Amino acid sequence: MAAAGSGARAGHENWSSRSAFILAAVGSAVGLGNMWRFPAEAGENGGGAFVLFYIFCVLLIGLPVLLSEVLIGRHGQANAPESVRRVARDSKASEGWSVLASMGVFAAFLILSFYCVVGGWVIYYIGVFASDLFQTGLTGGAFEGRAAEDIEGLLPSLFGNGGLMVGLNLGFLAVTMFFVSRGVSSGIEWVAVYLMPLFFLLFLGITIYGAFTGNFNEAVAYLFTFDFSKLTGEVMLAAVGQAFFSLSLGVAGMMTYGAYANRETNLGETSGIIASADTGVALLAGLAIFPIVFAAGLSASIGPGLMFQSLPIAFQAMPFGSLIGLAFFIMVFFAALTSSVSLLEAPTAWVFEKFKLARPVATIIVGTGAAVLGALSGWFWGAPVPGVASLALFEGQDLFNVLDGVTAKLFMPIGAILTCIFVGWIADARLIDKENGLDGVLHQTWRALVRYVCPIVLAVILVVGLTG
Ligand code: PFF
Repeated sequence: MAAAGSGARAGHENWSSRSAFILAAVGSAVGLGNMWRFPAEAGENGGGAFVLFYIFCVLLIGLPVLLSEVLIGRHGQANAPESVRRVARDSKASEGWSVLASMGVFAAFLILSFYCVVGGWVIYYIGVFASDLFQTGLTGGAFEGRAAEDIEGLLPSLFGNGGLMVGLNLGFLAVTMFFVSRGVSSGIEWVAVYLMPLFFLLFLGITIYGAFTGNFNEAVAYLFTFDFSKLTGEVMLAAVGQAFFSLSLGVAGMMTYGAYANRETNLGETSGIIASADTGVALLAGLAIFPIVFAAGLSASIGPGLMFQSLPIAFQAMPFGSLIGLAFFIMVFFAALTSSVSLLEAPTAWVFEKFKLARPVATIIVGTGAAVLGALSGWFWGAPVPGVASLALFEGQDLFNVLDGVTAKLFMPIGAILTCIFVGWIADARLIDKENGLDGVLHQTWRALVRYVCPIVLAVILVVGLTG
């Protein structure tokens, strides 16, 4: 166990350094949300307009909420609901506010269950490209001699194989559980410190490869030409949801990680670094994926199939296609794992602290629950959930999509609104000011954003999202 930093409460683990905290938090933020969801959402929502509004959401809503969450965690030095309770107690406010973090812990558990399903697909594609590399050799394109429909059909055929989907999902979850059960310094921090640099190395290589071999100019024009006529309410809603998902907000993940930060860490500065790294990776992911997709003459707007279907087809025509494909999915695996670890850590920390259990026991309890829920969504892929699917919000949706929708459209925005009200209006301002590491104009701006802009904008978006 790492030595507790100054200010830590007894028995509580801490990151071994500020850079370990940054790597772990960036690891939580950078994941399938950046590599898979962001390019798909940008493609489905018209490219440039979505990207501009996304950046606006990160700066004006995501960043202030991120700082609010980590500062609650750092003050509380405990699992998320307990941290909120301690801030409330020290502010002489109702401890009932801890419900905002309890909801977050539950939402993290729900996200974990379906996140590991997609993690399973990533493992599947690592296998597909590894065996292809073996067959076609190093230099040629991927899947030599196979028809595009064949390559595109890999994903639906996986969906049709419930047993394989469940097996891969459990495999991904088991790796996540292994690291979380080892604790903060030798598990969670270890994954971040070793895998994040490897991720960045592969990511840089693939982006440069995409820029040189693909249609880079078309991708730049697509992502950065701001056509305001395309900025509809629906696009804005998609952008704010994506910003939250990508920054791991509204679900107690960042509160939990903030609790392992020591008193010396400047949280304002650290939050800025986390948000910049996450947004930088999302934009660069677009600049890595779209040039390759455009060079193959494929469409940008096919949605979730972009990474799992279009990209493998595009790799067919590329030099070193199998090798790059393999490297790409290994890189995505690293990014996904450092995020799933944070999703599992939030509920696990709550279970072992609340019920005074050993960490590995708590990991097994939470992991088993996520395994069951994830297995159900893998097994009943495409089958509308009885009862729920008749509601307008989840019309005809299967369990996977209901879980995705309920967390992104309800839990994340509601959790964030409550966090803003709590930090901006309820908690003792002196306590908050001591934690946030900001001064002068930056401090005033942050406070105004948390008190007024974020809750109002989020409430409007929530209402539009639920009624529109
Ligand atoms: N931010 C992660 C991603 O972009 O893939 C997903 C995520 C991780 C969401 C952790 C929420 C969370 F607490």
